[in-house]
Amino acid sequence: MLLYLDCDPGIDDALALGYLIAHPDVDLALVGSVSGNTDAATAAVNARGLLRLFGRPDIPVATGAHDFLSRPFHGGAPHVHGDNGIGGVALDTTGTTTARGSAAEELVALARSNPGQVRILAIGPLTNLALALDLEPTLPSLVHDVVVMGGAALAPGNITPAAEANIFGDPEAAARVLDAAWDLTMVPLDATMHQRFEAADLEALLASDRRPAQVLGELLAQYFDFYSGPFGRPSAALHDPLAAGILTGEAIATRAFQVRTVVDTTDGPGRGQTIADLRGSYHPDPKAYSGEARWVLAVDEPFAPTLLERLLSLD
Ligand code: RIB
Ligand code: CA
Repeated sequence: MLLYLDCDPGIDDALALGYLIAHPDVDLALVGSVSGNTDAATAAVNARGLLRLFGRPDIPVATGAHDFLSRPFHGGAPHVHGDNGIGGVALDTTGTTTARGSAAEELVALARSNPGQVRILAIGPLTNLALALDLEPTLPSLVHDVVVMGGAALAPGNITPAAEANIFGDPEAAARVLDAAWDLTMVPLDATMHQRFEAADLEALLASDRRPAQVLGELLAQYFDFYSGPFGRPSAALHDPLAAGILTGEAIATRAFQVRTVVDTTDGPGRGQTIADLRGSYHPDPKAYSGEARWVLAVDEPFAPTLLERLLSLD
């Protein structure tokens, strides 16, 4: 299987990318950037710098959409991820690889040349995936499956009371992705807010004698500052890494429902809300009221130890 990663690094994106590079069974063929935590062009530079840091400058990075489908880029989340998206750390991109086409174009080309062999992990707003569906309407039949970090089924949002940040960034794109006929797994805040790095994990990264772990520790310190607010202590939610763990199978869903989903694309207080129809969740058969997207509401055990072990192995 080949993996396409669509991302907006982004500090937790950086952790997810490091995890994927460290995982022996992942063949990361292409990275696409999208505006979200920072603008798409900066996210692409960050992705190339991270790939070089992780020893894989050969993996091509395609720059994706700057603006969202129906709104201009909102300016990112510097209060969470720093001014440049990765805590203000400037990474060397010497010798890295920039793809010729846009992220959507390169994703479509990869899927067309490897029918049935491409997995998609999307950990930013879904603009590029929606644009790729416009370019190639048969894309769902060309890819193996899609895993998305995004949404909130029963949990509150994080960027508004109703909406999770990736979906809120581009609700129209999210609606298109959720309506498409592909094998789609959503990894929402319901699961990711309960998966965290704590102070000991940060210390382990900073104490490593390996530069990738040290740099990730430096990025994480900024992310810890933000979560001291909602979590009441320096720590970090592992949103994107958990989605990566679901993709590799190293994080296992214990509560998941295949249900229909509607995205609020209005301009009201619910904009970006993902309304997963969980009315069937009382039924002993989890496929009751079955629908297009599989929502992972909880995983079997803490993912942080597996993630930390993989990140410490990078050299
Ligand atoms: O809501 C969390 C998501 O928004 C993560 O992907 C994080 O990187 C931000 O993009
Ligand atoms: Ca992200």
